[in-house]
Amino acid sequence: TKAQIGVTGLAVMGRNLARNFARNGYTVALHNRTASRTHQLVEEFGEEGIFVPAGTAEEFVAALERPRRLVIMVKAGEATDAVIQEFAPLLESGDMIIDGGNAHFADTRRREKELREKGIHFVGTGISGGEEGALHGPSIMPGGSVESYASLGPMLEKISAKAKDGAPCVTHVGPDGAGHFVKMVHNGIEYADMQLIGEAYQLLRDVAGYSPARIADIFRSWNEGRLDSYLIEITAEVLSHVDAATGEPFVDIVQDQAEQKGTGRWTVQIALDLGVPVSGIAEAVFARSLSGHADLRAASRHLAGPSALALPESEAAAFADRVEQALYASKIVSYTQGFHEIAAGSETYDWDIDSGAVARIWRGGCIIRAAFLDRITAAYEAEPGLVSLLSDKEFADEIAAAQDDWRAVLVAATIQGVPTPGFAAALAYYDALRAERLPAALTQGQRDFFGAHTYRRTDREGSFHTLWGGDRSEVEA
Ligand code: 6PG
Repeated sequence: TKAQIGVTGLAVMGRNLARNFARNGYTVALHNRTASRTHQLVEEFGEEGIFVPAGTAEEFVAALERPRRLVIMVKAGEATDAVIQEFAPLLESGDMIIDGGNAHFADTRRREKELREKGIHFVGTGISGGEEGALHGPSIMPGGSVESYASLGPMLEKISAKAKDGAPCVTHVGPDGAGHFVKMVHNGIEYADMQLIGEAYQLLRDVAGYSPARIADIFRSWNEGRLDSYLIEITAEVLSHVDAATGEPFVDIVQDQAEQKGTGRWTVQIALDLGVPVSGIAEAVFARSLSGHADLRAASRHLAGPSALALPESEAAAFADRVEQALYASKIVSYTQGFHEIAAGSETYDWDIDSGAVARIWRGGCIIRAAFLDRITAAYEAEPGLVSLLSDKEFADEIAAAQDDWRAVLVAATIQGVPTPGFAAALAYYDALRAERLPAALTQGQRDFFGAHTYRRTDREGSFHTLWGGDRSEVEA
């Protein structure tokens, strides 16, 4: 019997994905650059389903039923190109290569185009949920052709996470790089979520004066409410963990330098290119980068801060409630920014992405899964052409209710000298969007002054220039 799907690249993600297919009744061909991994998988997990181990690329391809479905789970970048070059010559028209790595969508577009010329479907697919997700059900974001989704969709639906209403967390996101683009933005939002949670933690620690264990309990209680999410849940786990070697809170013995593999950075780079203000996501990326500058931080430790004290115990609980409001409001903003970027990408690359469907497939399986995504799904269902999540009445009402506390938290953070770039950027975005007038008018005046860059008027059509160096009369440009 031939395999319905094959997985090459059997590191932890590939291995778990292969097992997931097998556990769901599919016959799975296996291939890895070093064959020992392939054998190990069969030895350890062979009972879980039907695996067809292949030693060579040729054997692997021969093991697959046609049209072939070949999943590559290797490191994004050159390794992906190398694997494609190895397999593409062995494939035939109609076959599919599914790239489940965190590829840059521009690479995916290039690969898709090259392979399309050979009649091969290249399906750049975002997969989120880490190791556990790959095994038990990830959120899956495939791009590529409609034809390839017709063949792959039912299988992906089977192995994907299911939302609480039973809906599979997979949809055909759009052509060529759309899936990897959406996965990239997912990760940008993931960075923002993590940064906002980090700021909430730091405020509870430094302003409320709470211990990590106490803060873990607060996160646990938040996880019962509207912030219910995987990231809040694991935050409580991490904060309550005690280091076995020292007996100290785990969070106190880990070096405070956050690393990154690049997808958050890409989200911001691409947003800059598309002209989309993702300030909250950008602050999250910069915060990781700043944390990593150990020398710069060491050289700055002498800088003066405020002399404010932590709140008295009697005020701490009320402050914690305000932090929850600030976190929630900031979260609405970072999702607003992320969805704006998806809409802009969709427009630029003609992907026709359904934002509501994206929210729907993020409800389960992925790292940012949260009860909150139900709300976003509902907002897009109520109004598919929603310009901004903030224009949704329910979100607007929630922010309206949260904003006094949100502002108060930022006041406290500023007075205490606790860095809260995520909360602050989110609030600035919110205030800028709702402002009647922005100082951009002044910027235009300055540009016109030093460079005759011209400006438009509020009362008349056309472009104008003021003769700043002369009699300051206005001319039509
Ligand atoms: C996921 C994650 C995953 C990502 C890690 C690490 O959706 O399962 O986004 O794809 O690789 O979160 O990302 P950083 O190393 O950049 O933090």
